[in-house]
Order: sequence, then structure tokens, then C-alpha cells
Amino acid sequence: MSDVAKLILDGKEYEFPITVGSEQERGIDISTLRARTGHITLDQGYGNTGSCQSAITYIDGDKGILRYRGIPIEQFANGPNFIEVAWLLIFGRLPDETEYRSFADELTHEANIDEGMRHHFDSFPRKAPPMAILASMVSALSCFHPEFMDLTDEERFCAAAARLISKIRTIAAFAYRHAKGLPYIYPDPNLKFVHNFLHMMFSMPYDQFICDDLVRDALNLILILHADHEQNCSTSTVRMVGSSQANLFASCSAGIGALWGPLHGGANVAVLQMLEKIHNGNLTPEEYVKLAKDKESGVRLMGFGHRVYKNFDPRAKLIGDIANELLPRLGVHDPLLDIARRLEEIALEDPYFIERNLYPNVDFYSGIILRAIGIPTDMFTVIFAIGRLPGWIAHWWEQNQAPSRIARPRQIYVGNGMTDYTPMPGRK
Ligand code: ACO
Repeated sequence: MSDVAKLILDGKEYEFPITVGSEQERGIDISTLRARTGHITLDQGYGNTGSCQSAITYIDGDKGILRYRGIPIEQFANGPNFIEVAWLLIFGRLPDETEYRSFADELTHEANIDEGMRHHFDSFPRKAPPMAILASMVSALSCFHPEFMDLTDEERFCAAAARLISKIRTIAAFAYRHAKGLPYIYPDPNLKFVHNFLHMMFSMPYDQFICDDLVRDALNLILILHADHEQNCSTSTVRMVGSSQANLFASCSAGIGALWGPLHGGANVAVLQMLEKIHNGNLTPEEYVKLAKDKESGVRLMGFGHRVYKNFDPRAKLIGDIANELLPRLGVHDPLLDIARRLEEIALEDPYFIERNLYPNVDFYSGIILRAIGIPTDMFTVIFAIGRLPGWIAHWWEQNQAPSRIARPRQIYVGNGMTDYTPMPGRK
């Protein structure tokens, strides 16, 4: 295969080098394009644009492959815990016993938030969206931890990462408790990461939450499956903000904003809303699929389709398996799960979805599991953010370690030509 790409423009030929990744992915390096030709590329939605070289996560969307630091996602289904995976993503290899223990202990010691920060929760309206609280409070960590504004050495970065991963879970649980008007439950140093989160969510001062092992394992796996997904919208946002040398907390807070949208992390909420709409509105799954195929309706089959996976989302299979195991174990018969299964059956046989390679994505079943665990719908995207945080941190650090320029895309301007300012009295 050629190691250069040729471009002919206005009769002149230019050569651009091809960069080849470790899995033989090929990219035309156009970093000198504008300087040499006066042209830029136009790629709305960035579907053909590589913004960086990264060693964190590999995806082959056509083959349904997802690997963290080379390890296939399927191998995380029955074993590691979320903290081990977080360490792997951030530091590039699996931790040994001492590294794991020290990181896990740091998370335990740093789980609580400053009392001043806790008071902030009281000033949010009860109905405030938890994603708004999460973004604000993660950003507010910059005020309470000024010692982590400058993260150049690895030890200090590791301490900041541990604090962020640990505290986001406390912030998330406090956001929920505030919305419910319930007393805040402080983290318990005797509990592990996922169990501790469920404790802060569901314990009462007079009634300790008893955690079913399968519930803990299901949530652990959901967090792992969401932990990274290379240059998705929120991760690219974190990298973009970080490229201005903004601090880790500010960059991840921006990532939370990006994740909030219904076409990204908010999709698991949208899936549940769709299932409820079908359930409560006397719509059949068949009627809904028909609507989703009609462009005029503005309706989409939520939890279906993916920018990268044009075969199947490997995470969707793992998450579907947990749903099948967990719900009977909890004695939950959820009519929404029946609707979801029926929608999946119909869509997978429908030429509209087959021709466009639209398969269930990770969000299709995750909401049903979270609902069975007792997590309210508006907290689903918050759980996604807790899961995605190690990926954001890993990308922020990777970028921080390599010499990089501030991210600054260009545009093709299509607005007015030069126009004079008209004083107010002369305006129509
Ligand atoms: N329902 C119906 N039609 C769909 C759907 C869907 N869920 N998804 C895509 N299509 C159609 C589009 O209308 C388009 O049809 P056309 O070629 O006739 O115009 C074609 O499939 C391609 O769609 P695009 O929007 O170009 O695909 P893109 O890669 O830009 O979007 C996305 C991917 C945003 C995920 C899209 O499939 C979607 O909106 N899905 C529903 C929302 C969702 O589940 N998001 C979660 C993503 S996973 C995550 O963030 C963790």
C-alpha cells in the first residue's frame, strides 16, 4: 500500500504522508495542507477526521471490536473491578497488587467532599437536573483543590485522578439525596467503590442498604463498559478544553456537559422515555418502529445506531446478558423490558435498519438495568459520567504528556459579505 496520498489541485500535485496505526488504520496527515495549498478540509461531524494519535482504546466499528489498552471488552465481563480498569486506562497497563492497593486506598480516603462544598447542594433547586449539579460540582473541585491546578508530574496527577474518580461518586449520590430531600449519607471507608456509591444513594441514617452481589456486579460492569470509547463527543470535548491547558476538573466538567445530550450519554434516558411512551400511550412496538422510519415524524428508535459501530456494539450484548440475569434474580418483571425485546426483534428484521446498519447500542438495555436497581431515570446519565470519567482522565493526561497545539478547527464562512454598521434610527 502507498505511504503517501496525492492531491491534485488547480493542476498542481501535492503529496501527503500516510500515518499507520498499530492496528493498520491509515490516516492521511494533512497538517501542512492549508500552508501548502490555501485549502482546508470540510468534515462536518468529524466522521473522517482523526484529531490525535492515541494509545488508549481501539475500536473497529465494522467488526464490533472494542479494546481497552489492547484487552478485548469481553474479557472484562467476569472479573476485574472498575478501579482496576480505571488504572489500566489511565496508566496504560494493569496495576500490580501494590499499585492497585495504593490507588484503591487513596480513593477510599478521598471519598468525602469538603463540608463547604456539601453546603452548595442546599442552594440548588430540588428539581435541578442532576447532570447540571454534577458539572457544577466537578468544576467547583477546582476551588477546593487549588493544589491540583498544575499537574505536570505523574504523582500529583495520580492523586488528582484518584480524588476526582472518588468524589464524583459522592457528588452524584448527594445530588440524588438533595433531589429527594433525604439526608446526605457520608461514604463508608469499609465499603468498596460500587457498594459505597449504592450505600450513599440508598442507605438511611437508621437503615443500612444491603447490597445484593449481583446488583453490585451489574453496576460494576456498566461502569466498565462505559469507561472509554476513544474520540466520542464528550472525550473530544475534554481533550479540546484540555488543549488550552485548562485544569483537569474544568476539562472533565465540560465533558459532563457534552455527555448530557440525548444523542450521546442522554440516550439511555431517551430510551426509557421511549419505552414508557409506548407502554403508556397504547402504541405498539410495531407502530413505533414505523414512526422511527418516517423522517417527517422526527422520531428515532433510541438506543439504536452508532456513529462508529456499523455492525453491532459489543457492549450491548454484554449488557443485554446482565439484564436477562439480573431482572429475574431481583424478581422484577418489567413490561418495558418486554417492549425493548420486541423493538429489537422488529428492527433487526426490518430492511430500513438492516440497510443502514442500525443495531442496538450500549444504551438500549442499560436503562432497564439501572431502573431495576432502583436508580431514577434522571440519574442514568450521571452513572454514565461516573463510568466515563477514567477515559476522560486518561485522554486528558495522554494529551498533556505529548506536545500538542491548542485545538482550533477552521470553518468555511457562508455569512454576509462586508456590510456597514447602520445606526439604530436608520434600521428597518
Ligand atoms: N432510528 C431511526 N433512524 C436512524 C437512527 C435511529 N436510531 N439512527 C440513524 N438513523 C438513520 C438516519 O435517519 C439516517 O438515515 P438516512 O441515511 O436515510 O438519512 C441514517 O440512519 C444514518 O444516520 P446518521 O444520523 O447519519 O448517523 P450518525 O452516525 O450521525 O448518528 C447516532 C449516530 C447519533 C447514534 C444515531 O444513530 C442516533 O440518533 N441514534 C439514536 C440515539 C442514540 O441511541 N444515541 C446513543 C449513541 S451511543 C452513546 O452515545 C453511548
